[in-house]
This record gives sequence, C-alpha cells and structure tokens, in this order.
Amino acid sequence: MNMRQGPADCFSKGAPAGYDVAMLKDRVALISGAATGIGEAVARLFASQGAHTYIFDRDLAGCQRVAESIVSAGGSAAAFGGDVRRREDIAPWVASAIAGFGRIDVLINNAGIYPRQAFLEMSEAQWDEMHQINLKSMFHTLQMVLPHMVARRSGKVVNISSVTFHLGMALLSHYVATKGGVIGLTRSIAREMGEHNIHVNCITPGAIKTESEAKVLTEEQAQGMMASQCLQRRILPVDIARVCLFLSSELSDGMTGQTLNVDGGWVMH
Ligand SMILES: NC(=O)c1ccc[n+]([C@@H]2O[C@H](COP(=O)([O-])OP(=O)(O)OC[C@H]3O[C@@H](n4cnc5c(N)ncnc54)[C@H](O)[C@@H]3O)[C@@H](O)[C@H]2O)c1
Repeated sequence: MNMRQGPADCFSKGAPAGYDVAMLKDRVALISGAATGIGEAVARLFASQGAHTYIFDRDLAGCQRVAESIVSAGGSAAAFGGDVRRREDIAPWVASAIAGFGRIDVLINNAGIYPRQAFLEMSEAQWDEMHQINLKSMFHTLQMVLPHMVARRSGKVVNISSVTFHLGMALLSHYVATKGGVIGLTRSIAREMGEHNIHVNCITPGAIKTESEAKVLTEEQAQGMMASQCLQRRILPVDIARVCLFLSSELSDGMTGQTLNVDGGWVMH
C-alpha cells in the first residue's frame, strides 16, 4: 500500500483545503459503511491525512471503487465486503489490518440504514433489522477490535449516532431508538475503556446531504430541515468526516464518552 505524499485533487470530497500536516500519519483506521455517503468521506479524508484505511461495506463494488480512487491518488486503502451483522464477515476485515500493521488505531462505526416506517405499521422484522444493523453491529465490531487496542493501551473509536435522538422523529421510532442506544453504548464503553487509554466518542449528524438521504427525503423536505439550522447551507459528509478526524487524532486526547452534534446548529444541547 502506498502512502500519500502530497495534495491530490481526488480528495476534494474529503480534504480540507490548505491542510499540509498529515494528522493521521501511519494510523490504521477501520471504517464501516464506506462505499458512499459519510463513510466514504471519512475514508477519503483519513487517507488524505496519511491513514491506512480499511474500508468495509455490504456494497463491495462501491467499496472497491472508493479504495481504488484513494490508492490511485497515492493513498492507502483496502476494501472489504460484508454485513456488519455477521461476525464472520467482520473477522477478515479486522484480521487483515492486524496482519498488515499489527494494530488498529481507529475504528469508525458508521454503517447504518434509515428507512421510514409508521410505528403502528412496523413489523417486528423491520424493528429487528434496524437494531441489528445500527446498534448490534457495534457490539460485534467493538468486541472484535477493542482487545487489540487494549493490548496496546491506545485507540480511538467514533460511533455515528444521529441528531434525531435529540429531536425524536415521526416514522423513525426504530431508527431513533437505535441511535439513542449508540449514545448509551458510547458512554458505557468509554467508562470501561478509559483505564486502557482508549477514547470512545460519538457524533450526531444532522440532515446530511447524501445520495441515500435523497432517496428518503424530497428536496423540499431537506430545505425545510435546513431552515431549522443556524447555518443556512446543507451540511455535507465532509463536515462529519472532519469531526471524525478531530475525534481520531491527538487533538481530542482529553475527551471520551462525548457526543458532538454536527448539524449546522439545528439542535443545541
Ligand atoms: N445522512 C444523514 O442525514 C444522516 C444523519 C444522521 C445520521 N446518519 C448516520 O450516518 C451513517 C451513514 O449515513 P449515510 O447517510 O452516509 O448513509 P449511506 O446510505 O450513504 O451510507 C451507509 C453505508 O452503509 C452501508 N451499509 C448499510 N447496511 C450495512 C450492513 N448491514 N453491512 C455493511 N454495510 C452496510 C451501505 O451499503 C452504505 O454504503 C448512518 O449510521 C446514518 O444513520 C446519517
């Protein structure tokens, strides 16, 4: 795998302009749900900042496209296909990073789904699928990655929740329940892992302009959400990726168990 040596245009989706210091130089970062959206932006930004990215998604072709684009720009990326619900899929992803570098420095638990459904019409299968992908997946990844971090007394974990936890949201009761679980899990694992010098934090993104969002929200609905923000622009995947970068670097060494809201000033808490 190659390391990026200088600025590359292909990282324009991820790299903040003017950065000339590799904030994650030689860090080994695992990112789930990185074939598109927020996870893709995190992978591109982290690679542009010198990380060896191990990206995972059930959309293997999409994941490979992201990895190839990163590598062709001189970054370091390897793609893995699988389902975050299945430990047997997660195992090769984790094992490959350990085989390659002997360590995992960063885990970004990002993979998630957000289909709408009215609560009274929701099936148990829909409830369970949401919980298994958005929350139980983190039980699997954390149990498989944390032992490697504990052994080295070092590690950064960022879990992706949602601003909808602060708001409550019609048609998303199953989703919001999982995202509240992610915050509770973050706080509790931070308490258990603090003695091992492992930082576990969380981000609650607001209404982020992604291709998946466009499938469930009309432009009018998205504009309506934006009207509730202080900042009158759409918040982008790179806005979330930048806060992931902060929480994965030394800049956040004094923080753990925290939830940072990145929503353009929609909710204040
Ligand atoms: N877009 C938003 O407005 C928004 C707001 C708040 C929180 N979030 C959260 O951010 C995260 C990323 O959202 P996004 O908008 O970038 O979504 P996205 O759909 O663009 O990306 C999610 C990725 O996760 C992958 N994925 C889904 N289920 C998977 C599974 N079972 N196994 C492996 N991979 C799987 C998908 O293939 C996809 O590539 C999610 O956890 C989401 O809940 C998004």
